Amino acid sequence: MEFKMNTDYSLLNSNNFDLFLAPRVGKLTEIFSRHLDAVDDDRAINIVDFGTNDGRNIFPFLKIMIEQIRCRSTKRDINVVLNDLPTNDFNELSKNAEAFQKDMNDQCLYVMINPGNAYRRCLPRSSIDLGTCTFILQWVSRSVKLKNQLLYFPDHMVSDLEKSEITCLAANDWKSFIQSRSWEMKKGAIIHVGIPTACKDFFQICSSTFYQLFQKGVISKEELQNTTIPMYHFRSETDIKAPFKDIDKEIDVKLLDLSTRKLRHYENKDIVDCVRSWMYHSMMDGLCQTRNNDEANDICESFFDDLKVHLSDRKWLDFEMFDVIFQKL
Ligand SMILES: C[S@@+](CC[C@H](N)C(=O)[O-])C[C@H]1O[C@@H](n2cnc3c(N)ncnc32)[C@H](O)[C@@H]1O
Repeated sequence: MEFKMNTDYSLLNSNNFDLFLAPRVGKLTEIFSRHLDAVDDDRAINIVDFGTNDGRNIFPFLKIMIEQIRCRSTKRDINVVLNDLPTNDFNELSKNAEAFQKDMNDQCLYVMINPGNAYRRCLPRSSIDLGTCTFILQWVSRSVKLKNQLLYFPDHMVSDLEKSEITCLAANDWKSFIQSRSWEMKKGAIIHVGIPTACKDFFQICSSTFYQLFQKGVISKEELQNTTIPMYHFRSETDIKAPFKDIDKEIDVKLLDLSTRKLRHYENKDIVDCVRSWMYHSMMDGLCQTRNNDEANDICESFFDDLKVHLSDRKWLDFEMFDVIFQKL
């Protein structure tokens, strides 16, 4: 699956740190401090951000955590690993990573880039001390064909088979994410994962806007079916807790904290520009199976024009966020 974001994603979403991670900094500092106090060797401390995009949204958090380490030791090596899929814009990430390193002015800080799929192992065994992963678990690991929907939402124009395929895929992805991290974490290490959920009406509006292109004859039935954004936004608290119930050799972590909060996304922004930054490539992927690039792009533009009309009374999108913190036993 050729999955990536537009290069303006991070600029358009530049307040993601304030929205997603800032409210959890107190709790994470407290738990991470306990882990640092318990570390009884002088190995490097490794901090990882999975699905970092161009890095912009994680640097404020990294600064705070690096200060925590420096309060305890000025000389200890700190490795920051910035992960994203190989399709990410790594040029932009490299520039931002270099600027971050300069700004930190710390001789013992090393910033590294790690192309890899977070649903698999990306780092060596027992290496991570602190990990973050914000706003990526809603992307499933492969595309699922949905006959009538652009973005999956339950209960409308979706078959039981489609529903069960995407729900199982999302459950397996979450389990694989935890299994992979469990392998990579040091004893006592912690990972924070921010998982968005709900926002059903927005998904419904997107799907019906795309379906109308089929009804107007702009796209064919085949194109309607080929074009699905590989996303699952409907995990429940039970789904989130499920993998932690099977602690064994492969999942050797415990759920430390699970909470949910309401979020207002894209406030004071052009909602369609913001969502275009993560929808566009998946749509092009589907449409380019039958159209050339220009035709596919024109269809996307008609879709976003129509979406603007259908969302004209919205000042923001409401959804919820699960904050999950787990720890290696
Ligand atoms: C919505 S952006 C979030 C970026 C950033 N974490 C933030 O909070 O602003 C999702 C990012 O996750 C990446 N991503 C999606 N699936 C991934 C996977 N399986 N492994 C690693 N990165 C992934 C995408 O390439 C994209 O950069």
